[in-house]
Amino acid sequence: MSDILFDVRHLSKVFDLGRGVGAPRDQKRLLYAVEDMNFTMKKGETLGVVGESGSGKSTMGRCLVGLEKPTQGSITYRGQDLAKIPKQQQQKLRKDMQIVFQNPISSFNPSKTVGESLREVAAFHGLSKTQSNDRIGNLLGFVHLDSEVLQARSNVLSGGQLQRLAIVRALIPNPSFILADEPVSALDVSVQAQILRLFDNLKRELGVSTLFVSHDLTVVEHLCDRVIVMYLGSIVEMAPVRKLFDHPLHPYTQLLLASRPREFPGQVVQRFEPKGEITSAIGRAHDCRFHSRCPVSVNGVCDQEIPSLLEVSPGHWVACVLSDKRRDIGKSFRLTHGIWERKGMQVGA
Ligand SMILES: Nc1ncnc2c1ncn2[C@@H]1O[C@H](COP(=O)(O)OP(=O)(O)OP(=O)(O)O)[C@@H](O)[C@H]1O
Ligand SMILES: [Mg+2]
Repeated sequence: MSDILFDVRHLSKVFDLGRGVGAPRDQKRLLYAVEDMNFTMKKGETLGVVGESGSGKSTMGRCLVGLEKPTQGSITYRGQDLAKIPKQQQQKLRKDMQIVFQNPISSFNPSKTVGESLREVAAFHGLSKTQSNDRIGNLLGFVHLDSEVLQARSNVLSGGQLQRLAIVRALIPNPSFILADEPVSALDVSVQAQILRLFDNLKRELGVSTLFVSHDLTVVEHLCDRVIVMYLGSIVEMAPVRKLFDHPLHPYTQLLLASRPREFPGQVVQRFEPKGEITSAIGRAHDCRFHSRCPVSVNGVCDQEIPSLLEVSPGHWVACVLSDKRRDIGKSFRLTHGIWERKGMQVGA
């Protein structure tokens, strides 16, 4: 049996923003939130997705769980094309894919106790009263919550308690896959670590596969098996976690890593600054979307062509002409302390 859970081919999601103020009637602004993404996800894997705000992380995740309809491309789940699954099988699929969102307070109806809300979910998934009580009881143990919490309404519970309950709710139908979209960003740092341990246990004890969307590289480094780095709708780099953090190859990934808070100030020399502002994903790309901010972009190349996502070592994929071994361009650059530099140029020049 295949160990592939998701096979995503040429996935694009385009939003029609209508015409801009004063623009001709027929001039639509199309926002390419996700553009030609290709990747697979293995069963049992925790796959991290990082990138700045607006890079399309949530839109991609929402396409995977059926909350957004792709504009183009295919998503195959356990060998089945999601767009072609018959209606009667869709309910089963809804059980198999669950979501944990960023803000746990909005996940529960404050006019009901959390116990009532969880039992409703269990009934929706076809569990009898006894099955429901057993399942909720077991899952409360898994997330280290006392059963007394079931009597409370959401407005009196802490963010950490509510996120544990959101995990319980997601686990009730015994899913194979969880989309976790910034699940710890709204929580205090002290609580974040506890919730992250639960996600780790999801993989180790229950074998659940997770697509873990996060801004926080340190969280992703500790939790994920592999990481996708997105920039304005596209994958710029994808690798097993250690390869990505120890040998980042895309200038954007290098920027992200160089700009994260340092545990030991002064240890890393930061001399890699992006130029200008993040651009927009309006209109189809005809260049490297990052080129206008990239400190090592090559005129006439990076502004003229879309770099292919190439596998440069086993499992390590990069979309940058500097890493493209079929081209000579990378020869006039060298990697120093994990950052691209033009040969013969003074550091910081
Ligand atoms: N329903 C929508 N209609 C129009 N544009 C949308 C819609 N949903 C998302 N977008 C746009 O698509 C782009 C990608 O958004 P998305 O929310 O996927 O990014 P993100 O990487 O998850 O960002 P963040 O880190 O802020 O959550 C953004 O420019 C966003 O404004
Ligand atoms: Mg998002």
